Amino acid sequence: MKKVELGKTGIKVSRLGIGTGTGLPSGHCAQALMDTNELSGLLLYALDRGINHWDTAFQYNTYSHIKEALKQVKREDVVLTTKFSAAHEKETIRDFNTTLKDLNVDYVDVCLLHGVRTNAELQMRSGALNAMVKLKKEGKVRAVGLSSHGLGVLNSVLEMPELDLVWGRVNYAGLHMDTECLGMYDQMASVYWLKKCYKLLPERVKLLIRPKASHEPIAEDERNEVEATLQKIHSQSKGIVGMKVLAEGMLRDDAEKAVKYVNSLSFVDSYIIGMLNREEIDENCRIVNAENTVSEDVEK
Ligand SMILES: NC(=O)c1ccc[n+]([C@@H]2O[C@H](COP(=O)([O-])OP(=O)(O)OC[C@H]3O[C@@H](n4cnc5c(N)ncnc54)[C@H](OP(=O)(O)O)[C@@H]3O)[C@@H](O)[C@H]2O)c1
Repeated sequence: MKKVELGKTGIKVSRLGIGTGTGLPSGHCAQALMDTNELSGLLLYALDRGINHWDTAFQYNTYSHIKEALKQVKREDVVLTTKFSAAHEKETIRDFNTTLKDLNVDYVDVCLLHGVRTNAELQMRSGALNAMVKLKKEGKVRAVGLSSHGLGVLNSVLEMPELDLVWGRVNYAGLHMDTECLGMYDQMASVYWLKKCYKLLPERVKLLIRPKASHEPIAEDERNEVEATLQKIHSQSKGIVGMKVLAEGMLRDDAEKAVKYVNSLSFVDSYIIGMLNREEIDENCRIVNAENTVSEDVEK
């Protein structure tokens, strides 16, 4: 599996990374529901095939599985990304320290603000970002960034030299990608205290505010804008990691096309796919390895 540097971070990752936060229609995380040995075995199976980039988050409930897998490898053989949803500095440091303890590690490679939706939210979470920058100075984190859930946020990244990299949602179909037109829940959840209030609402009101995920693609010009903005961010020497490559599984019948598409984007250093079994790992490795052999031959 081909390795690439994430922007100018000095961190080398495989083109294909493995996610541990795939959402199920029930709202649960598929990997968190796996037995500890099942997911840790899957991560080690992926590592054996050259996939050294493991993606998690404080919210996924997969730290115990990852800890188990890490027991069996050298720490430096794996690039660990985690993400935090807290808004303030103190809470982020607290969650980060819990992370180190739960994973039984003394550093994390990549630390991200998790799923930032709007610029207002980005401002409100400046304390969390300060915490990550401090942790990087202390040598506990190697690179700092955000995962984006809104087109406006991607544009703001261009003015943020403190960010080393960005996780952006990208697939050929424009499904589950960043848009300016956020629904009521995303607008509400982007305001920290309103997100807390949402949790207290009765279920039927919650359903009105947050209908089932949209199965509609974003407009073609918005998809082009997402890609153009990621390209600009990459040209500032920041790392770009693609996610939602299979649109949360909606593109499963066109997996080959979906993987080839993200692999063809010159501004995407690496991409994370939620792979739930060995067959998916094998199949995606086959596609990625074949594509990268072809492109290396063309480069020669
Ligand atoms: N930063 C963020 O804000 C954020 C948010 C969400 C997720 N993430 C991360 O990004 C990762 C990827 O997102 P995701 O898992 O939601 O979506 P995804 O990678 O677009 O889709 C994952 C689904 O694709 C299917 N799949 C994968 N390889 C396949 C193959 N070769 N053939 C057929 N189907 C295949 C699997 O579904 P079936 O097995 O059901 O077919 C899998 O559940 C997550 O796991 C998580 O680590 C980050």
